[in-house]
Amino acid sequence: MSTSSNVAPNDLSAFWMPFTANRQFKKTPRMFVAAKDMHYTTSDGRQVLDGTAGLWCCNAGHARPKIVEAIANQAAELDYAPAFQMGHPKAFELANRLVDITPAGLDHVLFTNSGSESVETALKLALAYQKVKGEGSRTRLIGRERAYHGVNFGGISVGGIVTNRKMFGTLLAGVDHMPHTHNLAKNAFSKGPPEYGTELADELERIVTLHDASTIAAVIVEPVAGSTGVLIPPMGYLKRLREITKKHGILLIFDEVITGYGRLGTPFGADYFGVTPDMIVTAKGLTNGVIPMGAVMVSAEIHDAFMQGPEHMIEFFHGYTYSGNPVASAAALATLDTYREEGLLTRGAELAKTWEDALHSMKGLPHVIDVRNIGLVGAIELEPIPGSPTKRAFSAFLKAYEAGLLVRTTGDIIALSPPLIISESQIGEIVSILSGILKTLE
Ligand SMILES: Cc1ncc(COP(=O)(O)O)c(C=O)c1O
Repeated sequence: MSTSSNVAPNDLSAFWMPFTANRQFKKTPRMFVAAKDMHYTTSDGRQVLDGTAGLWCCNAGHARPKIVEAIANQAAELDYAPAFQMGHPKAFELANRLVDITPAGLDHVLFTNSGSESVETALKLALAYQKVKGEGSRTRLIGRERAYHGVNFGGISVGGIVTNRKMFGTLLAGVDHMPHTHNLAKNAFSKGPPEYGTELADELERIVTLHDASTIAAVIVEPVAGSTGVLIPPMGYLKRLREITKKHGILLIFDEVITGYGRLGTPFGADYFGVTPDMIVTAKGLTNGVIPMGAVMVSAEIHDAFMQGPEHMIEFFHGYTYSGNPVASAAALATLDTYREEGLLTRGAELAKTWEDALHSMKGLPHVIDVRNIGLVGAIELEPIPGSPTKRAFSAFLKAYEAGLLVRTTGDIIALSPPLIISESQIGEIVSILSGILKTLE
């Protein structure tokens, strides 16, 4: 039997890795063994500049002392408290702190352990809300093509990535999708939100006409789709979605698992676009990625609708063993402290112009068919190798790793989302490494 002490470091077969080309990885493993601030250390002792904040989550960089200390202290003081019918102070403190930084009107918080669970929580809450309000016929959920809302059944149903859906049966019934907004023919090399495509929001009107508003509970969108390659909404698009959802009594859910906690240079994407949804779904940057935790912020209107009936009755039959876990709560509080002390929730705005100029300097390099950016997110889209989609970008990923830079690829898109503590010279380093690699790609 293997134990943690006798597994040979090169015995890689037991761990079936997530969203990974397992056989390719296990032939030529890429292992991180340490991290500090903007850098990872590899098992062969190299420093790798983190161009992706881990998986879009380590917004304050790595091994930040306050967070490390908070986790250690909390584990020693109160390691776990039952999440149902019992409480502990830090979860309440954290909810209050989150309400303070979310747009006005989103006054209540449910805790989860991941982005996927936050999505399921929001979708279930939307359906239950319509029911408690006496509109139980509103059972449809509307997502969007090329959306990523995690990997659970609700999330893949409203999501729009065929590879994540096609193996898993019929998914949730009663889901429809709006078109995505990515249009290279009209919008390639846009800086910030592109000009063309606002009217794509009106596709929601078409869906409402098809199904009738009385059957639709909620619409869920990422303000900026991250995982499918940094798809930035056309100017005015999200405002238009808000108008249409309001007009028809449909809830609007923003999935801010990536855009939350400063990624766009504002605390949330809702702030960047000046649009307040009925719920904001978050995870990742909530704890700086260090401990799994998610949070769903909801409007007072939704919350209050449930607060009826006998007081000894549970109002919403949903929750997780680890909802508001003490160690995760302590990590999140220390993360929010770090963000506040270092101004990280708005630092992306200060760096946005430098970031934009640096990324767009790659226009004109071989295979580059688009460069796009918003806040501290960016993407370089490459022309696919004919007959071998994804290969060119994957090869860029491998070469970047060898050259000391971590990037992320989706299809033939290279996505960048560095920790918000990045320096201007490190932005230069990212672009210089990537430019060199783009010139050598097949
Ligand atoms: C927008 C969005 N929603 C949900 C998720 C799922 O989060 P998790 O992997 O924590 O379940 C992600 C992850 O990248 C995401 O980008």
